[in-house]
Amino acid sequence: MKVLIFSSSPNDDGLTAACASAAAEGVKIASGVKMAGGEVEAVNLNDLKVGMCQACENGWGTCLEGHTCQTEDDFQELHARTLGAAAYVLVSPVYWGEMSESAKAFTDRLRRCEATRNEESGLYRKPVIAVAAAGGSGGGMITCLASMERWIEHVRARKFDLIPVNRWSREYKLVTIRAAAEAMLKELKGASG
Ligand SMILES: Cc1cc2nc3c(=O)[nH]c(=O)nc-3n(C[C@H](O)[C@H](O)[C@H](O)COP(=O)(O)O)c2cc1C
Repeated sequence: MKVLIFSSSPNDDGLTAACASAAAEGVKIASGVKMAGGEVEAVNLNDLKVGMCQACENGWGTCLEGHTCQTEDDFQELHARTLGAAAYVLVSPVYWGEMSESAKAFTDRLRRCEATRNEESGLYRKPVIAVAAAGGSGGGMITCLASMERWIEHVRARKFDLIPVNRWSREYKLVTIRAAAEAMLKELKGASG
């Protein structure tokens, strides 16, 4: 039962990375010591080549009916890997009150492929924890989370939690993120017996 943790910042030791690490710790706690790491997979979207949606043809390309993206880059492999996971943590730094560009590019293309499948979406009812990490003024966390929330709704996934974090709340929000990830995996394990 794999939990995919997406982060989307160029900084390996910043707030986004700390949030992603806290989520990974939570998954590992829920996995049990013997399985530590076995059920968590971390992906930094900034390490991949996932370009922006090209709005092919009249606005819809193969995403509309084929549920695949015709712009070839690292997206195809990541799309398949994403569908294979049971749950997700999406952590984005807040840029201008929005998701980072790498998070936006990936989620935009995934949405086009999956939202048009409606209840057949590969993300249907799968739980997602969204984290908006605002390390600057602290402004824009809510607008960033609002767009993450809409994305979760469009792909028919389930909002397990939406967590805003800023520099001042960092310490206790890392605890919250760890607990949320632990609870999410425990719930999944409980549901699957
Ligand atoms: C282009 C850009 C826009 C930003 N916009 C905001 C913002 O709207 N609100 C905020 O609190 N911080 C903003 N920041 C600061 C980032 O949220 C902050 O650096 C965050 O901690 C990045 O996470 P990191 O440390 O993991 O890279 C911005 C940073 C950049 C580079």
